[in-house]
Amino acid sequence: MEEGGFERIKSGLLRFVEEPGLAPNVRIIEAPSDDASNLFDQTDYLHIDGGHSMYNAAEDVVLHAKKVVPGGLIIMDDVEWQSTVPTVATLEIGRRIRTFLHAKGEPHA
Ligand SMILES: C[S@@+](CC[C@H](N)C(=O)[O-])C[C@H]1O[C@@H](n2cnc3c(N)ncnc32)[C@H](O)[C@@H]1O
Repeated sequence: MEEGGFERIKSGLLRFVEEPGLAPNVRIIEAPSDDASNLFDQTDYLHIDGGHSMYNAAEDVVLHAKKVVPGGLIIMDDVEWQSTVPTVATLEIGRRIRTFLHAKGEPHA
């Protein structure tokens, strides 16, 4: 990542959370995902966009998907990658995820 890339991304995230007044509902945890899983019990919204290897994708789902409350939302990036498809399949078996159209209007795998 280019120099300052993480700081720029973090500033964008903070603006995204603060400007619409979402800060009271959002907790930002800066930690490796396996450490972070010990720091919260449940969430309404899970966005998985960590390492895309088969191991990392599976680890993120195993550690975090069970923490999403009933009726909560799981968003996962790049669900059609060869390395992420097996993990997505486990979520679909559990009826915990539904795929939808991406920006170009084509269905994800
Ligand atoms: C595909 S990038 C996505 C970054 C960000 N979501 C975005 O859209 O700009 C994946 C990021 O996850 C981080 N990452 C990978 N494995 C991680 C882990 N186990 N714990 C925390 N972060 C991890 C990487 O360093 C990288 O910054």
